Amino acid sequence: MSKRIKIGLIGCGMISGSHVNGYLAHPQHAEIVAVCDTVDANAQRRAAEVLSGAEARAKTASEEAKKADSAEARETLTENAARWAEYKDNGVEIFSDFNKMLKSVELDAVSLATPPFFHEEPTVAAAKAGKHVFCEKPMARTATEARNMREACDKAGVKLAYQSGGTCLNKTSYAIREAVTSGLIGDVHYGRLTSYRLRGRPNVDMFGFGKWFLNSAYSGGGTTYDTGVYDINRSIYLLGSPQPTTISGIAYRGMPPEYTGEEINDVEEFVSVFVRFTNGMSFTYEHGWSSNMAGQPQGIFIFGSKGSFSGDKLFLEKGKWDTDDKGNRRRYQGNLEETPLELPDKSFPDKFRDFLDACNSDAQPASNGDIGQKVTEIMSGALLSAKLRREISVEELYEIEALRTEPTPGWPIKAGI
Ligand SMILES: NC(=O)c1ccc[n+]([C@@H]2O[C@H](COP(=O)([O-])OP(=O)(O)OC[C@H]3O[C@@H](n4cnc5c(N)ncnc54)[C@H](O)[C@@H]3O)[C@@H](O)[C@H]2O)c1
Repeated sequence: MSKRIKIGLIGCGMISGSHVNGYLAHPQHAEIVAVCDTVDANAQRRAAEVLSGAEARAKTASEEAKKADSAEARETLTENAARWAEYKDNGVEIFSDFNKMLKSVELDAVSLATPPFFHEEPTVAAAKAGKHVFCEKPMARTATEARNMREACDKAGVKLAYQSGGTCLNKTSYAIREAVTSGLIGDVHYGRLTSYRLRGRPNVDMFGFGKWFLNSAYSGGGTTYDTGVYDINRSIYLLGSPQPTTISGIAYRGMPPEYTGEEINDVEEFVSVFVRFTNGMSFTYEHGWSSNMAGQPQGIFIFGSKGSFSGDKLFLEKGKWDTDDKGNRRRYQGNLEETPLELPDKSFPDKFRDFLDACNSDAQPASNGDIGQKVTEIMSGALLSAKLRREISVEELYEIEALRTEPTPGWPIKAGI
């Protein structure tokens, strides 16, 4: 029987509701025991939501148990109802200081729903205290922060997961990764990933987001760190986690309508990145919070010597030689055939359950510190390269990041570049 993981939630703003629901959905594997936010009202609201959410679920499960059509279903519902009902007696402790929470509550893991500028510090502190960490995306603002987080967790022997929208936890992603890493599509040498929003900039076209989203010192960057991060994460997973070696990026801000708020807005609205990996593969990413591009195929494209992926569709090359009367080869006729992708006969957990299972086993979460560090190298490297107007190596990225003063800010960009 796996251990029920005691969770302390840090950061009780907009996205933390999904953490509350995410852990409540697994009553036999997780228990939210404490919440923490520097804004007391936010912490109070989430704590109340945990209690009311557990109470409502307990009631529904008890009623459903009475109508269950199998003994097994009845048992599961009854057991779940009992776990949710325990919240009423146990309560949820509320903190404004995460260090105090780490010291005074018995926790197995922390779940970070704070903005990117506050991911490294609590991750390193939690790891030192022997707690597993689930961190919101983006994992960090800079490659150095991501490396510190990963190293602290590895050193402490705790698991580090970060929220990547479940982009890897499905049959299709698993099957593509198998096809790429097993050699089915041959030598994978290049890939491309594009995703654009027409107008989808937080606090410019969409409202109700934290002001930090547009300030690179807090967020690390704009579209790259907010939406691009999901795609870059999926591509690294699908390619079998190759190590980036050089990065070249361009970044642009200047799409109408202009931001008219009073907060700092120094982040990119569009980015294009070219990455070379140590294994010889290379990849281009294009992302836009705001763009006027229509009719462009969006999604992932992976080029192999024996086949390819166009979106989630597998194509294998089945061409043959034309021969003359004597059987001599004349010319090769290429023929690309769409081929059904063999999906695995297994189910995939959601991102919270994936993390909880990793806490209880030797397995790593699908989106782990290793992938997160590589993704952050690409994001931070893209914006540094855009600023320097030249390709940079990952080695150089760490060197330049180390030259900056603390706290390490993101890479502000000038409008129109
Ligand atoms: N908002 C979204 O739609 C969304 C979606 C997916 C992921 N995310 C990610 O989730 C994270 C949080 O985003 P959000 O939109 O919820 O931000 P938010 O600004 O709404 O909430 C952040 C919360 O963290 C708290 N906080 C800040 N410093 C703290 C500290 N030192 N200790 C404790 N609490 C502290 C703030 O008071 C606030 O309540 C970000 O990394 C973001 O990229 C957000």
